[in-house]
Amino acid sequence: MGLFSGKKGLVLGVANDRSIAWVIARTIMDEGGFCGFTHLPDRPDDEKQRNRRRVSLCLEGYDQARFLVPLNVQSDEDIARVMAHTRAEFGQIDFLLHSIAYADREDLGRPTVETSREGFKLAMDISAYSLIAVAKAARDLMSPRSAIATMSYFGGEKCVPGYNVMGICKAALEASVRYLAFDLGPQGVRVNALSAGPLKTLAGSAAGVNEMLKLYEHMAPMGRNITHEEVGRTGAFLLSDLSDGITGEVLHVDGGYHMMGSPGRLLDQLKQA
Ligand SMILES: NC(=O)c1ccc[n+]([C@@H]2O[C@H](COP(=O)([O-])OP(=O)(O)OC[C@H]3O[C@@H](n4cnc5c(N)ncnc54)[C@H](O)[C@@H]3O)[C@@H](O)[C@H]2O)c1
Repeated sequence: MGLFSGKKGLVLGVANDRSIAWVIARTIMDEGGFCGFTHLPDRPDDEKQRNRRRVSLCLEGYDQARFLVPLNVQSDEDIARVMAHTRAEFGQIDFLLHSIAYADREDLGRPTVETSREGFKLAMDISAYSLIAVAKAARDLMSPRSAIATMSYFGGEKCVPGYNVMGICKAALEASVRYLAFDLGPQGVRVNALSAGPLKTLAGSAAGVNEMLKLYEHMAPMGRNITHEEVGRTGAFLLSDLSDGITGEVLHVDGGYHMMGSPGRLLDQLKQA
């Protein structure tokens, strides 16, 4: 019997096999769970349907991957359609993973003080509000012992230069986790965030993780970066019954980086220089 035997859920945010959502989903399916997936809709002129294709390639060989439907979280109609599809396939669900973020590259690259109004709204809509929109649409589908998890980053708690507008989105996302946890608690639905250290993914590269990897290696108490698999396991934990007393939490999977009050072992190197 796997940890997710007989459990069913929805996974939002797989773009390719490096996506955090994919490693979490893979861990869940390896433990016996069934997943429904969404992909970013393809542009009508993209005959090759590249977005859909990249996600389908991940799902190949996984019997437990039950469906793949398009979803743009900016559209309430899309969200409603995905929930109707999920109800038809699964009835109730036991877990929902939200692993979605987007900001215009120009806004991400600018100092926060120069963030455009439109760029701010777009980033907040896709990266923060979408969790509320999805939780609202899914609440009638969630079983009385179920969990929602979303993905965050330390730049929502402290100023991480370069993370800019996305840091503000993550702060809003983490606050949304707490308020949603309160609202949905009586229904038996837990809501948590996993705050991951930097990982090479599509979104991660846009947010400048490559430069952060060396820093984490030197500053994190564990003296190394985290792996996709570690995030996969903790994501699965938060979505499983093993975490059944935890809600409204932001759990860090960052080798301990967030709790340091100094640059740690980097100081030794500075002393030697
Ligand atoms: N990679 C990292 O270092 C890191 C660290 C901490 C947190 N995170 C967070 O993890 C989450 C997943 O990112 P990732 O690193 O796996 O990158 P990713 O690019 O693989 O995933 C981002 C996903 O968001 C989806 N998305 C963007 N706009 C959308 C929209 N309008 N509608 C529906 N889906 C949309 C993309 O299709 C993609 O699947 C994000 O919230 C990201 O901020 C990433």
